[in-house]
Amino acid sequence: MIFVLTGAGLSAESGLGTFRDEGGLWTQYDLSEVATPEGYARNPVKVLDFYNARRANAAGAVPNRAHDALARLDRAGRARLVTQNVDTLLERAGARDVWHMHGRVDHAKCDKCGATWPAPERMCPFDTCGACGAQKVRPDVVWFGEMPYHLDEIEAALAEADLFVAVGTSGTVYPAAGFVEHARMLGTRTLELNLEPSGAPFDDGRYGPASRIVPAWVEEILD
Ligand code: OAD
Repeated sequence: MIFVLTGAGLSAESGLGTFRDEGGLWTQYDLSEVATPEGYARNPVKVLDFYNARRANAAGAVPNRAHDALARLDRAGRARLVTQNVDTLLERAGARDVWHMHGRVDHAKCDKCGATWPAPERMCPFDTCGACGAQKVRPDVVWFGEMPYHLDEIEAALAEADLFVAVGTSGTVYPAAGFVEHARMLGTRTLELNLEPSGAPFDDGRYGPASRIVPAWVEEILD
């Protein structure tokens, strides 16, 4: 099984901005204001507006050839897809099962009871939870300082993988940034597919736009 970790670079050619490249989201917004529990407590309207915009952008985006190729690999039963992306372009390209370690922007969550549901187009601070009635509603995304989703399953999947591939991620946010070293420690081969080398310790790398290099790599695997 091939463990595939994806990041914002996968969706860049679908028009969704990355975080740390020139003009990226974290060059335009202060992440401590819009992507932390403390920022939400201080200014919920600002945070909800930020994610309302992300939700609208993601809904309007179309999967690119890299999403299509990874979805094909998933349907062929060859890959475990794990994404840091909060968009659902892999699913919309036909992937059956994607682990969203940083959540999904098209879902809302109750901070009191943990219920999740499809988010409305625009969330507002006065929304209430349909399950418990609490006015503790937030986007179902993982903020800095919070625990990503699926970590136990991810650890098990990494232990079973015979290849670890990272696609379009800068490798700066832990724990995902540590997966490559973990895989190497387990003796698993590691491959980076990125616009340019991230500097993380991969055994191999292929560089260029995801829409070109990912389909080419998938073709080789499925040949
Ligand atoms: P980054 O913005 O940190 O990195 C994007 C990566 O994609 C860089 O390595 C770019 O070189 C690469 N890239 C850009 N365009 C590309 C293209 N067309 N084809 C291939 N690669 C391309 O985004 P992530 O690594 O995904 O977390 O960021 C990780 C996490 O940091 C995000 O999930 C988010 C953010 O803060 C949270 O919000 C919790």
